[in-house]
Amino acid sequence: MINKQKFEELFNQHLIKDISEEKIDIVLSGQYGKALELLRDAEATGLFPALVGPPGVGKTILCRYFASLRAQENKNKSFHWLTMDESIKPSHFIGSFDPAITLKKGFVLEAFNPGPLLSAMLEGGTFLANEINRATEYSQNTLLEPLEEASISIPHLGRIKADKDFFFISAMNPEELSGTHRLSEALKDRIKVWIKLTYPDKATELDIIRINLPEHFVVEESELELIYTIINETRKNKIDIEIPASIRAGIAIAKLVARTRFLEKKENVKEKMSIYEILTDITKNVLLGSIKPKPGMKVENVIENIIHKTLGT
Ligand SMILES: Nc1ncnc2c1ncn2[C@@H]1O[C@H](COP(=O)(O)OP(=O)(O)OP(=O)(O)O)[C@@H](O)[C@H]1O
Ligand SMILES: [Mg+2]
Repeated sequence: MINKQKFEELFNQHLIKDISEEKIDIVLSGQYGKALELLRDAEATGLFPALVGPPGVGKTILCRYFASLRAQENKNKSFHWLTMDESIKPSHFIGSFDPAITLKKGFVLEAFNPGPLLSAMLEGGTFLANEINRATEYSQNTLLEPLEEASISIPHLGRIKADKDFFFISAMNPEELSGTHRLSEALKDRIKVWIKLTYPDKATELDIIRINLPEHFVVEESELELIYTIINETRKNKIDIEIPASIRAGIAIAKLVARTRFLEKKENVKEKMSIYEILTDITKNVLLGSIKPKPGMKVENVIENIIHKTLGT
């Protein structure tokens, strides 16, 4: 463990004081520009939007970018989020009483630690309810009052009205993906702008991979094309694969290819490996946990087939 002084020093060094200062490398071509426009339209009309799409298509980065734009325009500076699952309780949104202070002073304001939703409502900030359809209906119900009345009741303390700039975005994976509770009808009815994100078109996805590569990482265009072919194959094969490779998998493969080439150069290797050899190995390592095969299918076999089909190896 680091000591207290070191902890404080490092914490302050790394603290993101204001989301408008955060540098977000985002590609806004294709679906992303349109989705951003829809978020802005929802904001301008006071409607609450939801981003719907499979894992890793860019829901979170788009929200962060949108929140940073709002912050830059000086509407507010805060961005809070909460990723949900079955264990999330209303107090995780609203906040809770500190047991020690409550014991001494009772249920007073001073004893209350505000949660992310209450903070965003008070500051007029942006709140992202990530994976909202994984929360239980009981927890989803906490959101009904904020969305309908722009207010929220805090046990023992009273009801507060949200700042006029409070903005609520939800993000979720499509309901057909297993493991997600359905969104309650009551909540569904309060979300009025549905923004669907899917796997991006080829040009956009290649731009996303490029923008996510560290500066000194070099991957040739022909190599990027091959990486895309592999990733896209996992998405086309709906017979063997339940959840295909996300954008993250393509980024990971590209980084590992760049690393291999870097080492070849550094070690002055005479016989460079072909990209097919490199990708055969890397693809196995990355896809192993990046795709979910249909029940009864062995992931290793599915990967072998993909490699054979796209690389011929
Ligand atoms: N438009 C984009 N521009 C730049 N990078 C992107 C873009 N879309 C996605 N990415 C990158 O792809 C990865 C996944 O994006 P993100 O985390 O936003 O996905 P998500 O939809 O929130 O995924 P999950 O459902 O798993 O939470 C990140 O590394 C992100 O930087
Ligand atoms: Mg996310």
